[in-house]
Amino acid sequence: MREHPSSRIDFRSDTVTQPTKAMREAMLSASVGDDVLGDDPTVIELQNRVAKMFGKEAGLFVASGTMSNAIALRTHTVPGDEIVCDKTAHIYRYEGGGYAALCGASIALVDGVGGLMSPEQVRRAVRKAEGSGSHYPNGSLVCVENTSNLGGGACYDQATLDEIAKVAKALDCKTHIDGARIFNASLATGVDVARMCEHYDSVSICFSKGLGAPVGSVLVGSAEFIARAHRWRKMFGGGWRQAGLLAAGCLHALDHHVNRLDEDHSRALVVANMLNALPMFSVDLASVQTNMVYAETTESAADVVAKFAEHGIDMFDLADNRIRVVIHLHITDEDIEQFRAVLDRYWA
Ligand SMILES: Cc1ncc(COP(=O)(O)O)c(C=O)c1O
Repeated sequence: MREHPSSRIDFRSDTVTQPTKAMREAMLSASVGDDVLGDDPTVIELQNRVAKMFGKEAGLFVASGTMSNAIALRTHTVPGDEIVCDKTAHIYRYEGGGYAALCGASIALVDGVGGLMSPEQVRRAVRKAEGSGSHYPNGSLVCVENTSNLGGGACYDQATLDEIAKVAKALDCKTHIDGARIFNASLATGVDVARMCEHYDSVSICFSKGLGAPVGSVLVGSAEFIARAHRWRKMFGGGWRQAGLLAAGCLHALDHHVNRLDEDHSRALVVANMLNALPMFSVDLASVQTNMVYAETTESAADVVAKFAEHGIDMFDLADNRIRVVIHLHITDEDIEQFRAVLDRYWA
């Protein structure tokens, strides 16, 4: 592990990344102010820089990816609305039912492939209240996740993203991208983030995953949308004071940790091929496009995880017969070789 306080090799998630020494120094020397009063210069710099990068008018710095998505969903919808997303979407699976509790919205699930929806599936999933004799909720928001976490880190191609936005707009729906790992998607597809999000109303970008910042996400959109989102952030208890300390970590990540994500993608492919070469494991290699590897196991996944753990290597079993290996900032080639040694010992 590189620049990590533990001797264990941690493949559980890219959320385990810790601020590097250089990032901590940048955070310590940040200029700060009271962000609730709107005068933290480092927060302002981060928000403006991210908004510009994504081709949007404004940005809002918030505590987490979940908060960023929750604010976006709440800003785009009113109670009784319906949100369309893939059945594996983080907003549906892992955000505590916030869409229901905080927005009073229902969700229309799409049976996408590897976490990715098709424009036609989206079109069929949108139900409008108008013309339904008041039977339907009002489909008003379409959310895509890029990269798709449960889809193994797979990315949308640009034509599909554009077409989904077009279908949504034609049905008078707003569009949101959960871009927790959008820089991974951008590097993997070669599409600049502004182009990628051109036809979407809002994007949530996380800094606390592969980018290695300890805390923080930025929500971007039009100035009018962000003004309303700012009020929801306040109501969700997310207005914060000298947040520039944290924003400085995110700015450091933008400068130093974006382009290196390619390294993670290359190592993920090495791991995927290693696993796939063994009869015990099977990996859908086509889905390994960024920093994640999901492998099906013939032996119980919990047993596989336990064996790796005995050798100082941690990962998650996400189902009875599925493990997940995530590559990130702290994983080195030596760590991958140790992973190989455990594979050889038990399953070669
Ligand atoms: C796709 C996706 N969206 C949103 C989130 C939420 O981020 P956070 O854990 O910062 O709330 C995650 C977290 O892993 C994620 O994978």
